[in-house]
Amino acid sequence: MTKVALVTGGTRGIGAAICKALQAAGHKVAASYAGNDEAAARFKAETGIPVYKWDVGDYDACAAGIATVEAENGPIDILVNNAGITRDGFFHKMTKEHWSEVIRTNLDSLFNMTRPVIEGMRARGFGRIVVISSINGQKGQMGQVNYSAAKAGDIGFVKALAQENANKGITVNAITPGYIGTDMVAAMPEAALQRVVAGIPVGRLGKPEEIAQMVVWLASEHGAFATGATFSINGGQYMA
Ligand SMILES: NC(=O)c1ccc[n+]([C@@H]2O[C@H](COP(=O)([O-])OP(=O)(O)OC[C@H]3O[C@@H](n4cnc5c(N)ncnc54)[C@H](OP(=O)(O)O)[C@@H]3O)[C@@H](O)[C@H]2O)c1
Repeated sequence: MTKVALVTGGTRGIGAAICKALQAAGHKVAASYAGNDEAAARFKAETGIPVYKWDVGDYDACAAGIATVEAENGPIDILVNNAGITRDGFFHKMTKEHWSEVIRTNLDSLFNMTRPVIEGMRARGFGRIVVISSINGQKGQMGQVNYSAAKAGDIGFVKALAQENANKGITVNAITPGYIGTDMVAAMPEAALQRVVAGIPVGRLGKPEEIAQMVVWLASEHGAFATGATFSINGGQYMA
């Protein structure tokens, strides 16, 4: 069952692993990214997957970008809202800019990316929407009030949208990764990272591929009965 998949933030980290896994499962995959042209070019050369640059926080850019992706690849059947950022710091020192950047990239993006594809999915009677939320949207995390708020919002989005579209062959699910070994986590101070790993019962960071295989399953026919769900993949760090 070859489908057309679009993965936001698909050129690095978890998104890149998702793209490769969907491609290996036989899907036609497109990846979007924000601005790191070098990483995108490397990813494209390695995988042959086409890459598209726009800001998922900008509705008009998303609508135009999706139109291009669909013109070149066909209607989007599988949408993986993966792009995300952190702007960490205690709330009592947080700037409005850091609040807004995280909300628009990690939460507004769900409207911006999903609204342009949902009508087509409903008309065709098939769709798979997967949102990469976070463990910290479930448990909260000091230093990440902005990120935790956005990621918790992602889960509410999934639950409501799943109800609206369950009878149209469309599933909508969230994955809440724990700490995964990507650039995002590498940016953490070493001491803080060591404290985090010490709190993970499995005793290590997760691998991007361990998130990617969950997306492949959700996108498949076997995932048809799973909707509105939140799948925790966190090495036992938090049992929601
Ligand atoms: N890593 C973890 O431990 C972890 C844990 C829980 C949840 N998550 C979530 O998983 C997702 C992926 O995380 P990651 O660790 O793989 O991140 P990453 O390595 O930092 O990669 C982020 C990707 O998102 C893209 N991106 C960022 N802002 C964007 C924007 N405004 N518009 C379009 N694309 C944008 C980046 O594009 P450029 O390359 O152009 O910058 C890049 O491709 C995020 O939503 C993150 O919150 C991660």
